[in-house]
Amino acid sequence: MRVITGTSTPGTFFSFLTAVMMLYDPVKRLSRLNNTIQEGAAAAARIFDVLEEESAILERENPEILSGKALDVEFDHVGFAYHPGEAPALNDIHLKVAPGEVLALVGMSGGGKTSLVNLVPRLYDVTQGAVRIAGKNVKDLSLKSLRDHISIVTQEPILFNETVRDNIRYGRMAATDGQIEGAARAAFAHEFILGFPKGYDTVIGELGSRLSGGEKQRICIARALLKDAPILILDEATSALDSQAERLVQQALENLMKGRTTFVIAHRLSTIDYASRIILLKDGVIEEQGTHEELMALKGEYFKLQTLQSVKGNEE
Ligand SMILES: Nc1ncnc2c1ncn2[C@@H]1O[C@H](COP(=O)(O)OP(=O)(O)OP(=O)(O)O)[C@@H](O)[C@H]1O
Ligand SMILES: [Mg+2]
Repeated sequence: MRVITGTSTPGTFFSFLTAVMMLYDPVKRLSRLNNTIQEGAAAAARIFDVLEEESAILERENPEILSGKALDVEFDHVGFAYHPGEAPALNDIHLKVAPGEVLALVGMSGGGKTSLVNLVPRLYDVTQGAVRIAGKNVKDLSLKSLRDHISIVTQEPILFNETVRDNIRYGRMAATDGQIEGAARAAFAHEFILGFPKGYDTVIGELGSRLSGGEKQRICIARALLKDAPILILDEATSALDSQAERLVQQALENLMKGRTTFVIAHRLSTIDYASRIILLKDGVIEEQGTHEELMALKGEYFKLQTLQSVKGNEE
């Protein structure tokens, strides 16, 4: 109408039309943008849930700092339940581990072995009694100084999608490349690491599933060696390996245990020869304890486990 009456030009009219057509795509994108924002907001809410989660493990004010190279660990009539009111996972555990002593924990699945060692780095708090390191209640220590003094090697090794070198360095961030290699050698990991496409600079993810269970464990053992903490916790570190790999991991572990206060959890009794004392946990209580010979002579639970395993071993 305005072009016909002469108030506007045909040029203006066509630029207007073109502009409307060009508007189509951005408006469509605007509605899609809202989707993206909603997705992002939902994800952010979940991340903040995690970030805002308060740890049940609290430091007291002015915590003490743990120090020293030779540390003993004491369980003073410890009781522990995962949830209040539930049947306790541990009952009246009374136990002293001297500096440098190797203590083996054995027993049927669900006996409480993992629960017991988790109390040392204060992953959980005891519900009764106290855990003391060098005479100090772990609840009085700063979490950082406590955990700085403890190395843990678990059955399911935790590796990050970084280079092999950085995965080992995680044990002690200030370590030099030479120290990292030294730790890898002592963990019998140096050889197979050199076999990777880029050696120590290979990113774990690039290897995909090429890393065997034993190799992962030896990387974690190297990490623990590098950390050089006076207390060591090994949770079933050799249960997923064949005997060749087990022997290597075993040697690596022996290097690792030297001079450290060690808790070693083993399903295979053949792997705990070097323990100075063996504790057998059943339903959360210490059922038997002593050396291998003493426990065999008891002809109790340990004897049963041992006989079961040697029968199985002969069949294999
Ligand atoms: N996070 C948890 N929450 C609640 N209960 C748990 C938790 N972890 C373990 N338990 C329970 O505590 C008891 C002891 O478990 P724990 O993991 O200490 O046994 P374990 O001796 O390490 O067994 P395994 O030899 O199979 O590793 C079990 O009855 C188990 O069901
Ligand atoms: Mg366990």
